[in-house]
Amino acid sequence: MPQFTLLAIFVSLLSLSLSSSSAVDFLFNSFNSSDLLLVGDAGIGSSILRLTNSSNYDSFGRAFFPTRLPILSSSSMPNSSLSSFSTSFVFSILPDIPSSPGFGLAFVLSNTTSPPGAISGQYFGLFSNDTHQVPGPLLAVEFDTGQNPEFNDPDGNHVGIDLNFIISTVTHTAGYYRAPANGSASSELEFVTIDMRSGKNVRAWIEFDGPRFQINVTIAPAEEPKPPRPLISYTDPVIANYVSPEMFVGFSGSMVKWVEHQRILDWSLSNTGSPARELNTSNLPLFLPPVTPSSSIPPIGLIVGVSCGSFALLLLCFLGLYCYCRRKKRAKILEERREEEDEEDGEEWELKYWPRRFSYQDLSRATDGFSRERLLGFGGFGKVYRGVLPISISKGIEGNENEEEEEEVAVKCVSHDSRQGLKEFMAEISSMGRLQHRSLVPMRGWCRRNNELMLVYEYMPNDSLNHWLFPSGDKAAKPMDWATRRRVLSDVAEGLLYLHTGWEQVVLHRDIKTSNILLDKEMRGRLGDFGLAKLYERGAAPSSTRVVGTLGYLAPELAVRAATTAASDVYSFGVVTLEVVSGRRPIEAAETVEEEDWLLVEWVRGLYAEGRLIEAKDARVEYGAEAEEEVELILKLGLACCHPEPERRPEMNEVVALLVEATRSPVNL
Ligand SMILES: *[C@@H]1O[C@H](CO)[C@@H](O)[C@H](O)[C@H]1NC(C)=O
Ligand SMILES: *[C@@H]1O[C@H](CO)[C@@H](O)[C@H](O)[C@H]1NC(C)=O
Repeated sequence: MPQFTLLAIFVSLLSLSLSSSSAVDFLFNSFNSSDLLLVGDAGIGSSILRLTNSSNYDSFGRAFFPTRLPILSSSSMPNSSLSSFSTSFVFSILPDIPSSPGFGLAFVLSNTTSPPGAISGQYFGLFSNDTHQVPGPLLAVEFDTGQNPEFNDPDGNHVGIDLNFIISTVTHTAGYYRAPANGSASSELEFVTIDMRSGKNVRAWIEFDGPRFQINVTIAPAEEPKPPRPLISYTDPVIANYVSPEMFVGFSGSMVKWVEHQRILDWSLSNTGSPARELNTSNLPLFLPPVTPSSSIPPIGLIVGVSCGSFALLLLCFLGLYCYCRRKKRAKILEERREEEDEEDGEEWELKYWPRRFSYQDLSRATDGFSRERLLGFGGFGKVYRGVLPISISKGIEGNENEEEEEEVAVKCVSHDSRQGLKEFMAEISSMGRLQHRSLVPMRGWCRRNNELMLVYEYMPNDSLNHWLFPSGDKAAKPMDWATRRRVLSDVAEGLLYLHTGWEQVVLHRDIKTSNILLDKEMRGRLGDFGLAKLYERGAAPSSTRVVGTLGYLAPELAVRAATTAASDVYSFGVVTLEVVSGRRPIEAAETVEEEDWLLVEWVRGLYAEGRLIEAKDARVEYGAEAEEEVELILKLGLACCHPEPERRPEMNEVVALLVEATRSPVNL
């Protein structure tokens, strides 16, 4: 018996060592717990691989094939060559709350199962929080269900190729190409988008062609055949810099707070030169959102509907034939009419609420046709451009035409996928133009063109607070001094107090963070980005369908209630306060701090419990001995704002009272 066991071990070892340097060809139509190497929260249950654990606040998980795949031939560098492989798998991504932020999953090739610095919770559990990179070599194909505009994500539903870096080298909206329907006039392939967050099973094919340095990624609904054209075909010899002789191959995913189930249902891979083996795709389990009872049509109504429908269709065919030659003209007229309607809507809103409506031509001229050189960055919903407008236009002041003064403005472009959605959105935020406070970024006006809304703000020349706290790259600015930090905090507190109580309605900001706090020319703090704000009648129960905001700043209760309140704004303000005092980001990279310390709030709370609160101050800043007490007081205030129970957080008037008091008499507290 023992001899037999030994032999078995020897044989398996032998096959292991053989396979690690040569052929790999596997097919998992279901998973057993011993099939894969599991890291973090990844697990296998009911034959299905899931990457994250929904009972954890933040979670990441990776699963790899136990043997590494030979990728880079070990010969000397100039002659090194890459091997090829082909893989296919079926995945399903389903959030608990459809409107919550999305995370997605990634297919990974990595030289290690634990990329150093990778944080739990975000970035597919692969990249660091600080630089959003890893030492690598790491090559990932991301199936991203969230949009991070700062990483150039085109939308919240895309596929991309990542080389050691969260910013994808190439991306494409999720979807597939299919042959045109029979009888269609065009022979062009038709692009059909796929909603990767619907829970539906999606099949992916990845071909890695080493000698040609090419990666093809194709996706399709699981029951469909392989599309004739890949979604992404990426060819570049640089990929040789992101591979090692042998690499682990598998999947990785992460999430914070909002549950998203990322599942892999089956998987095959081959590096023998033939395509990965065919997967079972037909009778896989389905993980769809719970069905909400919809108004079902009674059968009679259906029959009547169908017959009426076919009659109408017949009629339409004739009509279509008749009008064929004039169709284009007609469409144009319709389009014009629709635009006129928009204008009318706009005028109505303008009269009621808005400071000014600009013409698209004016804004286009002001920003050099929205040129790349004028792009300031990516805000909450879209791109922001710097522009120059004549004062007569920006402020509506009639001036001397000859010596026209000009004003710098920031133009924020918000696009929305549905006209109706945009209309509702505009109605909601239209009142923002009336909000005036010295701690808010002044709004100059707006413009709408089709599904795009452009909001015009006064230009803030000193960038955002985030930029001053964490100077990056070549702009090695000195970290902001303490007096300025303290003043900016009280500015922001006053701005937020105004939003919460200064108007007939409570206005929630919903996305307070250091990159939304801008500095005017006097380095005073001003709250920007009201794109996310929503109005609530005071006293009415807040109802909200969409969680907005930024990870790291969001109050814990939002995970269960998904409804922003004044108290959750206070929480975000508390995080900003701690960030400003400590000079640390809300979520710190695991590589620079102890693992239990990577959430800023938890770290400061821990120091407080140990009576070492003062150690949370920013080591880069000179405070002077007398400021220490004040620093401690403001840290305590920040912690109070971040109290886990919303009803125990202070209100903004209490916060302002304390901060303004502190700034007026900085020495004797
Ligand atoms: C998820 O995590 C919790 C707590 O960390 C643990 O008790 C539980 O077993 C995990 N669930 C699964 C399915 O692994
Ligand atoms: C990748 O896609 C391109 C473009 O469709 C195609 O020419 C090429 O043969 C594909 N490569 C592989 C390895 O499938």
